[in-house]
Amino acid sequence: MSEHAIGIIGGSGLYAMDGFEKFEERVVETPFGYPSDALVGGEIEGRKVWFLPRHGRGHRIMPHEINHRANIWALRSVGVRWLICVTAVGSLKQEYAPRDIVLPDQYFDRTSRREHHTFFGNGIVAHIGFGDPVSSDLRAVLLDAAVKRGARVHDGGTYVNMDGPAFSTRAESEANRQLGFDVIGMTNLPEAKLAREAEIALATLCMVTDYDCWHEEEDDVSAVSVVSHLKANSEMARGILRVAVAEIPGTPTWPEHDALNGAVMTDRSYWPDE
Ligand code: ADE
Repeated sequence: MSEHAIGIIGGSGLYAMDGFEKFEERVVETPFGYPSDALVGGEIEGRKVWFLPRHGRGHRIMPHEINHRANIWALRSVGVRWLICVTAVGSLKQEYAPRDIVLPDQYFDRTSRREHHTFFGNGIVAHIGFGDPVSSDLRAVLLDAAVKRGARVHDGGTYVNMDGPAFSTRAESEANRQLGFDVIGMTNLPEAKLAREAEIALATLCMVTDYDCWHEEEDDVSAVSVVSHLKANSEMARGILRVAVAEIPGTPTWPEHDALNGAVMTDRSYWPDE
């Protein structure tokens, strides 16, 4: 039985986690290949935490190249049952300014590689419920931690996941605004789907880096502006993570931890009992 652990997926600008005690690195091979990097494990506030940078150390992997299945599989295989993602997003609303934090509670899927966004198939049929794609318990922990750290934080919102790697056209940005979406990114929705299939409770800290390209008075998004806002905000992200980790319970009893109950149609179980 592996110890129940907390996972952190870091995004652009957050390639490592500090404050780890009993540091170890583990290269994990999964049935879907290798994750973005070696997992880095350690203890924070007495809890086992595994960190994975989704773009790899040195930012080598583009959004459409990320092996999300290997990432989530690897984290689950070392006992992760709670997962906090940190990710850069563009803002689609005036009130979400660069360096604000948004805790999304919904996703809208504009991706095109959806066959990569499930563990099932090849003889195992399962359909997970995804009406509430984010763990409300874990989101509440993040909100509390963000408020304690003095962040400008917005609770709830819809994250629209585009493929990238190019940013949106102005017409696409306007359409996303008219549809009422709040933030836009290229990576987090597949993580949320796969985490649900892996019975991992997930919530995400969206770090606002830009106003995409719809804002008349602000510069259009660029890769350089995204990274500079994120680097400036990475200490805030780390501070929130440290406070949040201490508040997560030790046993996985939230609804997401039982997500495959009633979802698998094939006559066998999927994730082995730990
Ligand atoms: N990540 C950060 N800013 C973004 C934007 N404007 N569009 C897509 N992904 C992003």
